[in-house]
Amino acid sequence: MFASRTNWRLNPNRFTQALEEHRRSGKPLWDLTVSNPTACGLAYPDQEIVAALADRRAIEYRPESKGILEAREGVSDYYRGRMGFSGSGERVDPERILLTSGTSEGYSHIFRLLCEAGDEVLVPAPSYPLFEFLGDLADLRLVPYPLLYDHGWQIDFASLRAALTPRSRAVLVVHPNNPTGSFVKRREAAELAEICAARDMAIVADEVFLDYAAGPEPAQTFAFHDAALTFTLSGLSKISLLPQMKLAWMAVSGPQALVQTAVERLEIIADTYLSPSTPVQLALPKFLELRHGLQAQLLRRISTNIAVLDGVLRESKLLTRLEREGGWYAVLRVPATGPDEDLAVALLERCSVLVHPGHFFNFSQDGFLVLSLITPELQFREGVRQLRKFFGG
Ligand SMILES: Cc1ncc(COP(=O)(O)O)c(C=O)c1O
Repeated sequence: MFASRTNWRLNPNRFTQALEEHRRSGKPLWDLTVSNPTACGLAYPDQEIVAALADRRAIEYRPESKGILEAREGVSDYYRGRMGFSGSGERVDPERILLTSGTSEGYSHIFRLLCEAGDEVLVPAPSYPLFEFLGDLADLRLVPYPLLYDHGWQIDFASLRAALTPRSRAVLVVHPNNPTGSFVKRREAAELAEICAARDMAIVADEVFLDYAAGPEPAQTFAFHDAALTFTLSGLSKISLLPQMKLAWMAVSGPQALVQTAVERLEIIADTYLSPSTPVQLALPKFLELRHGLQAQLLRRISTNIAVLDGVLRESKLLTRLEREGGWYAVLRVPATGPDEDLAVALLERCSVLVHPGHFFNFSQDGFLVLSLITPELQFREGVRQLRKFFGG
């Protein structure tokens, strides 16, 4: 009766079962996986948000397939003055920006634009677990390419090149990556463009965490990348910490003829759905303006939590933290005494601490746990203390 692409394992895994049981038991929970910014105690400017949604122009329905021009101009402003990999940022023309109801929808449109059923898209490992489902839904084969860790992460280009086949259509990068927090380096971006341009492949760059750089330097964006056809994705969910608004965008760049065809075709895909709602599109410029105050709060939270974590790790001989350059997560290297999932379940059952096992993110080995650095400070401090106690040493 049902298409094989939806033939997923539907029963909860052991980790989810353990979590459900723990919640039912009413025991305390030190949740170090909090990733919903609206549920982590930030001070949102409620009135300004609500006022932005109350625009009377939203009473009238005037569909625009790429999204309302004013909103696309707001996105173009977001990129103004930023540095691209290939030099200082010229303007992103709003005509090559399209709005979607989330980054996932953007991925889906791009995959439908580029790939026949069974085509391949290269994705980093470790990375964001949702790709697997997005790939299934678009009838794609996702081919992992490894990121290697050696005092910082880098793309393993030898493996990436070895994974290319005549069916490869695109290379996906997450910049900075979730959960490793690593940015694509300038020379890596150039090498990717060279590979893609030579094989008629595209770059898909997920920049939802772009503004959360750990260092003082602002990150470089792919939005001005022009050596290969490039789709740069981002959205309000992380940039303005408003995931409930369901508004994201893609900026298309690259050789002009390819950009033009890609945009024309994407416009038809977008017009078929017309998903983003009018009130949210009209509010987008205001929401982008509000990002500064919200991001500042979150960056403070992240640096407080990192300092707490590093303080606790200094007392431990067994636990270390991998270097990160940005994003919302920290990756811990822990003794690999068994599968990460067993470890995460034991942490929950014995210490009431919730962390994500590395294998959720496709780490190639055991011995990695992922913590969210946007967790409220008190909860983070206690959770990390419990974690250290669990491992002893
Ligand atoms: C790398 C990455 N891309 C995209 C998203 C989701 O973005 P959106 O809410 O716009 O679909 C997430 C959410 O955590 C993410 O980690």
